[in-house]
Amino acid sequence: MYKVEQDGELYNEGSGAVYTMMKKDPAAEETGGWLFASFTPDGKPVEQDVKTGCFSCHQPLKDRDHVFSSPLNLSLPLP
Ligand code: HEC
Repeated sequence: MYKVEQDGELYNEGSGAVYTMMKKDPAAEETGGWLFASFTPDGKPVEQDVKTGCFSCHQPLKDRDHVFSSPLNLSLPLP
């Protein structure tokens, strides 16, 4: 787990986990059609400017729909 600070810094933080998520919403034009959110370990939403705190990093990936990860290739032999 990683923790994203409001100033966009990223670092490991064992028990201070913040759970992040992205959700599709065509109305979210400023953030590439995604709603961004993050939560403290007890489930409270983190107040932040997601445009600078999240989208600034995900924005350059517009050819990949702003998503970093690739789908798992299940045709590869698993260990
Ligand atoms: C400092 C740059 C940076 C910031 C800021 C950032 N992310 Fe990410 N995000 C990444 C990177 C890099 C990955 C891919 C990590 C990996 O695959 O190990 C990622 C992955 C994700 C994923 C998994 C899907 C994907 O794109 O692979 C979600 C969901 C996500 N971030 C949501 C958020 C949310 C919500 C915020 C704001 C609270 C945020 N991110 C802020 C860089 C960032």
